[in-house]
Amino acid sequence: MHIYIVLLGLFFVSVEASYEVSETEKNDLLMRYNHLREDVAKALFISNMHELTFDRMLIDRVSIMSCHEYENYISEIPEDMELLQSKLQGVTLTIPVDGYGVVLNLYNAYPPQTKLGCIHSKCKGSFQCILGPEEKLSSSGFVEGMPASNCTASTGLMCKPSVTAKGTLFTIILSIIHFI
Ligand SMILES: *[C@@H]1O[C@H](CO)[C@@H](O)[C@H](O)[C@H]1NC(C)=O
Repeated sequence: MHIYIVLLGLFFVSVEASYEVSETEKNDLLMRYNHLREDVAKALFISNMHELTFDRMLIDRVSIMSCHEYENYISEIPEDMELLQSKLQGVTLTIPVDGYGVVLNLYNAYPPQTKLGCIHSKCKGSFQCILGPEEKLSSSGFVEGMPASNCTASTGLMCKPSVTAKGTLFTIILSIIHFI
């Protein structure tokens, strides 16, 4: 009896694991997403485009979405952003995203996002990715201006995620403990 439970457990673990992306794929996806975002920031003069990093919680979240849920989630674009969406069509990407299941759209180019979570696709395309931490897109998320001029910290044309007050406190406490 126990052996069956263990085997069943192993089966589910391996099914889950087959959707996991490798470190190489993660880096490749990050590179393509960040180039796309940088190209959009340059072309549409966006001052608050953030660089993305990989996030475990988003990976887990996209893993449990059905294809239908996923499609709805990534295509919810507010009506007042349709003009922006049409402007995006004129942007030329320096690094292609074809074949990655990555699309040049407002969802992927939403400036305030700092996190990316991807799995091997269970639906269309090669990969299924979601962005965070913002749940909903809003036109106020696009701040016009010189790229990276609306950041607290930046690398090139994009903002680095700002260090939160909590994060700073944590770092200070760690340094004090280290010092003692
Ligand atoms: C970013 O732009 C918004 C809206 O114009 C402004 O209120 C905010 O102070 C700016 N933040 C930084 C860090 O420049």
